[in-house]
Parts: sequence; structure tokens; C-alpha cells
Amino acid sequence: MSSPGPAKIPQHVAIIMDGNGRWAKARGLPRLEGHRRGVETVRTVVDAAREIGIRYLTLYAFSAENWKRPADEISGLMGLLDYFLKRELDNLIKNRVRLLTIGRTGALPANVQRELSRVVEATKDFKEWTLVLALNYGSRSEVADAARAYAAAVQAGTEKLADASWENFSRYLYTAHLPEPDLLIRTSGEHRVSNFLLLQCAYAEMVFSPVLWPDFGPADLQAAVDEYGRRERRYGLTTEQIKAGRP
Ligand code: FPP
Repeated sequence: MSSPGPAKIPQHVAIIMDGNGRWAKARGLPRLEGHRRGVETVRTVVDAAREIGIRYLTLYAFSAENWKRPADEISGLMGLLDYFLKRELDNLIKNRVRLLTIGRTGALPANVQRELSRVVEATKDFKEWTLVLALNYGSRSEVADAARAYAAAVQAGTEKLADASWENFSRYLYTAHLPEPDLLIRTSGEHRVSNFLLLQCAYAEMVFSPVLWPDFGPADLQAAVDEYGRRERRYGLTTEQIKAGRP
């Protein structure tokens, strides 16, 4: 009997952290309490991802659509983000984790922008591990921003319209310097992608976990990675072609 090969570890995992509100509601607590617990989960999951060997972890922390939430929830989330950045800086440095952001971060409150710049600057030389926070992020606005930048480059003569291709265009996305996600996880039992990394996840494996984000732990992350390991990624090819090595 052949022994199982080495476990397949996704290089880049992206997570839609969902279910904070329902977690709080089920306990008769304000929604913000769910987000507060969600921040604790972020710390646990960042550490667990590193232990598993996941080199890039992208977390959907605030969507472009989240501005439509009640004002007190938005300010609560911004406060938590500020608190998280202040509290995690030492931990990120100790564990050699680089922090990056994707999204229109220029619209975030000034204090949050300041903290973000501070943490991004302090961790910018780390190469082993990358934590990406998606903040005021939406795929459609990302495409609009990239299209604008691409058109400006064409006008300036640094890009040629005739050379337009996915490879060239993708260099104008927020994720230009990141590998594409191998695994996309959404918690809380919802089966939607919600305007998150739509182009980048073209070939990502998707795992939907029923667990609410505040309850999501290292074992749940490991279970998603194990599920990923059982999937066959074909990128449009046949199983036989994959087995024979790519043409
Ligand atoms: C979805 O739960 C979660 C969010 C909209 C925000 C996620 C934010 C955090 C986990 C905390 C801040 C993050 C960092 C990195 C400091 P929901 O409110 O939509 O839950 P529901 O669907 O049950 O209402």
C-alpha cells in the first residue's frame, strides 16, 4: 500500500469572517460584542495559519458595502480595528508577519489610517508570513480603480492597448504583488462570495464552514485545509492531463 504523500498546504488562504452578529444575538448581546469576540478569533487564526504553514492570509475585515450599517456599528468596528493594530504590532513583529492592506483605505478614519501606516511600515521587511486586511474593499471598486489606472497608463504610453491581457491588467489590482488565493473560506454557513476577490479567486477552492466567526478555531481552519487537500485542482484540464503532468 502506498503511503499518503505530504499534506497539501494552501499557500494563500482568504477568509470571509461572517457570523459575528448572529453569535451576539444568540447570546442576547449587542452586535459589537460579536465583533469584539471576532477580533480575538483573528488573533487565534493568524497564529494557527502560521503554524499550519499558510504563508498568505487575507481577511475580509470591512467591505465597501459595510458603510451602510448603523453608524454606531461602523464606529465600533473602526475602534476595534484601531485597538487590534495597536495591540498586535508587537506580536506581528515577534512572529515576523508582514501586514498589508487591500481596499480604499484612504476613506478610513484618520486614526485608523495612521495605525495602519505604522504597522505596515514596521513589518514591511518580513518575507515569511503575510497578513492582508481587506478594508473598505470590494471587487467591483477594485476593478474600477484598476481600469482607471490602466487607462491612465495607456494614455501615458507606458501600456499599449493592443497588449491588454489578464497578466497585464492584474498588475493594476490591489493584489498585484500577492499570489492568488488557493483556498477561500466563508464562515457562518452562508454560501456567497459577496464581492470579495472575485477575479483572484477564479481558481480558488471554496470551503463553507457552518461555524460562526467568533467560534471559529484552529481545528476549524485545519479542517478547511484538510478539505482543500482532498480536492483536485484542474484549472480547466482533465484529471488524466493533471496525472500526466501539465501539457
Ligand atoms: C461579519 O459578521 C463580519 C464583519 C462585517 C466584520 C468582521 C470584523 C471583525 C472580525 C472584527 C474586526 C477585524 C479586525 C481585523 C480587527 P456580521 O456582522 O455580518 O455577522 P451576521 O451576518 O451574523 O450579522
